[in-house]
Formats: sequence, C-alpha cells, structure tokens
Amino acid sequence: MPAAVDLKERGNIFNGLLSANGSAWRMVGLPMMSGGRGGWAVDAVASVGVHGWTAGGSNCRRGFSPRGARDGALRLQLGVKGRLRRAANGDCRTSQLAVVGVATVDLISLSTPQLQTQFFRISSSSFQSPSFSTTRPSSMLRAARTLTTTNNVARAAANMKLLYPTSLKLNVQSIEGFSASLHAYDVKKPIPDDLIDADVLVTWSNSADNLKDAAARMTKLRWIQSLAAGPNDVLNAGFDTSKVKVTTGSGLHNFTVAEHALGLLLNAARRFYEMRDYQLQSKWPGHLGGSQPDRPKGSFTSLRDARVLIWGYGNIAKTLTPHLVGLGATVRGVARRAGVRDGIEVFDESSLPKLLPETDALVMILPGSESTRHALNQERINLLPNHAWIVNVGRGTSVDEDALANALEKGDLGGAALDVFETEPLPESSRLWKTPNLVVSPHAAGGRPQGAEALIADNLRRFIAGQDLQNSI
Ligand SMILES: NC(=O)c1ccc[n+]([C@@H]2O[C@H](COP(=O)([O-])OP(=O)(O)OC[C@H]3O[C@@H](n4cnc5c(N)ncnc54)[C@H](OP(=O)(O)O)[C@@H]3O)[C@@H](O)[C@H]2O)c1
Repeated sequence: MPAAVDLKERGNIFNGLLSANGSAWRMVGLPMMSGGRGGWAVDAVASVGVHGWTAGGSNCRRGFSPRGARDGALRLQLGVKGRLRRAANGDCRTSQLAVVGVATVDLISLSTPQLQTQFFRISSSSFQSPSFSTTRPSSMLRAARTLTTTNNVARAAANMKLLYPTSLKLNVQSIEGFSASLHAYDVKKPIPDDLIDADVLVTWSNSADNLKDAAARMTKLRWIQSLAAGPNDVLNAGFDTSKVKVTTGSGLHNFTVAEHALGLLLNAARRFYEMRDYQLQSKWPGHLGGSQPDRPKGSFTSLRDARVLIWGYGNIAKTLTPHLVGLGATVRGVARRAGVRDGIEVFDESSLPKLLPETDALVMILPGSESTRHALNQERINLLPNHAWIVNVGRGTSVDEDALANALEKGDLGGAALDVFETEPLPESSRLWKTPNLVVSPHAAGGRPQGAEALIADNLRRFIAGQDLQNSI
C-alpha cells in the first residue's frame, strides 16, 4: 500500500509526515539554516507497512536543495533498504524508501559540491556491509563518513524528552519530526514529576524558582536551550554546567533590539522625550522647533555625521549598524577581539581611551557577566565628550549607574537612554527616575524571540547527531 504523504513547509523548516497502515514516518529537512549550514534527517518512528514516499517537485527542490548544505546529515533510523534519490535538478519524484528490517544508518558530513549530484543507494541485503554508489563514487564515499548498523542511536534518541515553555507562542509542529517527545511546561511552576527526567529544557522568561527547582531535580538534563540572548537567569540557577550544555538565543533578538536602540538614538538626537515632557504640561517647546542650527559642533542632534561607538559588537550590533550607516553615521565597534566585522572596524577594550573622546553616541550591547561588570565606569564616562549620549540595551550591570547619574547631574554628558538596569524593575527609590536627560525604557528592547523554532530544531538535530550546537556558552 503506498504511503500517504502530507508535506508541509514552515519557514525554513520542511516537515513531512508519511504514514501507512497506522505507521508513521516523520521527515524534517533543515536546508540553508544558520549561515549556510544545513542538513536533513529522515526519522522513522515505525516501519511496518511503509512502502515508500514521494515528495512533490517544488517542495523537494526547496526542502532538499543542496545549495549551502555543507554539513548535512542523513539519518535513516529503523529498517531501511532500497534507495533514496536526490537528483541535481531537484526532482525527487522517483525517491523511494522501502522498509524491511531494523537498523540505523547515519550518513553525516555530506559536503558540497558533491551534493549537487548526490545519488546514493543502500543496495546490500545485509546492513553489516552496505555499499554506496553515486554518480561521483569517490566523492560520495568521502561524504558517507559514518555508518552505524545498530539501532543504539535510535533507541537513545527515541526515549529523549524535550520540554518547551508555554511562555511564548511556539509553532511546535516546526520542531516535531525528531526522535524526541515534546512536552509543554509552565515556566512559573515547578517541573511536573512526570517530566523531571527530561533531557532537554527550552527556557524563556522562567521564574527564578522554576529554574532553581529544575537545577536541583532534573538530574538527567543534558542541554538547556535558552531563548534569551543573555541567559543570566539560567547561568545563575545552579545547573551543573559540566554536565548540562547551555545554548543562548543570540540572534533571535537582533531585529527588535536593533530597532529599539535605533529608536533611543533618534529620541536622543531629536529630543522627542523632551517634547513629550512639554506636552504633558500643555507647553510649546519653542526651543526645539522652528529654525535650528544644522548639526552644530559639539552636539548630538542628528545621526548624520555622528560618531557612534558600539560596545559589544556582536549579532545585535551587526543588525543595527547598516541602519546607522544608512542615516549617515560613522560606526566603530568594541569587542573582546579586534578585527574588521562586516566592514566595520572593531577594537578591543585597550583602545577605549582613544575611542571614547571621539564618540557622540555610545551604544552598549554587552552581555551581563563578571567580565563586563561596570565596564562603563566613572573613569571611562569622564573620557566621553560633554555632549555624548549613552544608550544601553545590553545588560544593566555593565554600567556604573551612580557614576552615570553623577555625570548627568553635573552636565558632563548629553544624556542617557537605558533599557536595562542593575536592578529590574527599577526600584521606585532609584535616583535614575529623576536624573536629568535620562530616558528609562523598561527592558523593552527584546522580549520577542524571533525564529526560535528554527534555532531549536537546528540545535536538536545537531544534539541528536552529536555535533556542536549553535550559540554554545
Ligand atoms: N535589552 C534587551 O531586551 C536585550 C535583548 C537581547 C539581548 N540583550 C543583551 O544583549 C547582549 C548581546 O546580545 P548579542 O546577541 O549581540 O550577543 P553576541 O552576539 O554574543 O555579542 C556579544 C558581544 O559582546 C562582546 N563581549 C562579550 N564580553 C565582552 C567583554 N568582556 N568586553 C568586551 N566585549 C565583550 C563580544 O565580543 P566578541 O565578539 O569578541 O566575543 C560580542 O561582540 C546579550 O548578552 C543580552 O545581555 C538585551
């Protein structure tokens, strides 16, 4: 009986569910994810009665495009005999798998350009010594690095449990298809007893108590995928990081945080915050309207020709920079390692004494860690010109708030727009509420991980395949 086929595409992820006679196959393709790396896996959860599958031409081309798939992985779990064909023209109509026994076949590290013409056949009747053939035999054999003829991997993976948070709307179907069962959990409550043996925990805005409880009771946990770019909550919860891998959600917040930082910079230059203060008093801020000097020296009134220094030149900075450059700013960066990134000159911290005095707007996007604590201290604030603005969308601990407030009160700085604070929510007693020219933004820059499913799915595939994970700490 031919397999029933239901192939769906969701964003970058290609899901297929194949079923026949009550048995189910699931297939997930992960093409061209994470900067050109990609791969795909076929994962059988039962084999009885499955005769084969056929993928539609266009889906096939999209889902299985070999372009950019440098580190592809093909895993056929359970009995596989027959052949799987991926033709160069993307026509997969003849692809076929037949299931006759139980075995696991892992093919990993398929590399381009060989994938362009890949065609391989598992032709042997014995899984002990299968042979591969390809239109380019030598390259295909090179590609087929690992062959596992036991179903150990399948067994280990089949028992795996992944817990995903209900604190955000995840398209759970996009992470289905692997040999892991998926379970929702409440991030504000203790992990339920029946989920305590989970292997993987995806976190997002978990309460401190939830994480502390998980660290104490989830003794089988092997990997935490945080959806936060800076998972300080997870790192402070007491997990044994020699046993539990932690990966961050860096990349999921690039657009939102970049947009917020841009907004805060424009607010500073165009003084919207001051206009609003006047509006609330029904007063016309005449000094801000009408005829104005164009970019007077020693001022920050426009991004055009402004010298913007981004401290913490990572993923968010790379998304922000083109917008600043587009508006005419000159951008430089500071990070741990110096070098040129995406065409922008990035310095290490030893260059700060030279860079800070040449800065009109300093954008802080540093992670929170011991190494970044009070990175912007009084000494460094003093190096900034009196008209300079500071925008912080990284972590509050990277700025000495008292030193900043002192400088603003003395008029030694143009202003500051802070999205993050040493203590959040900012206590009512904080002097920052009333510090002149200080804009308070309530940790509002991120908060909406975008593309979380693609990151989880790609890392889950890597985890099952024993490969390095993206965004590992
Ligand atoms: N406000 C919000 O809502 C919000 C949302 C998302 C993220 N964040 C914060 O933004 C931070 C950055 O996110 P991202 O995705 O851009 O992270 P990322 O890609 O990891 O970039 C972090 C950058 O900081 C640099 N860095 C780290 N430690 C440093 C140190 N001690 N001195 C100098 N530079 C240092 C790194 O330098 P190298 O590249 O040389 O290693 C890297 O360039 C996160 O950690 C998080 O705390 C805030």
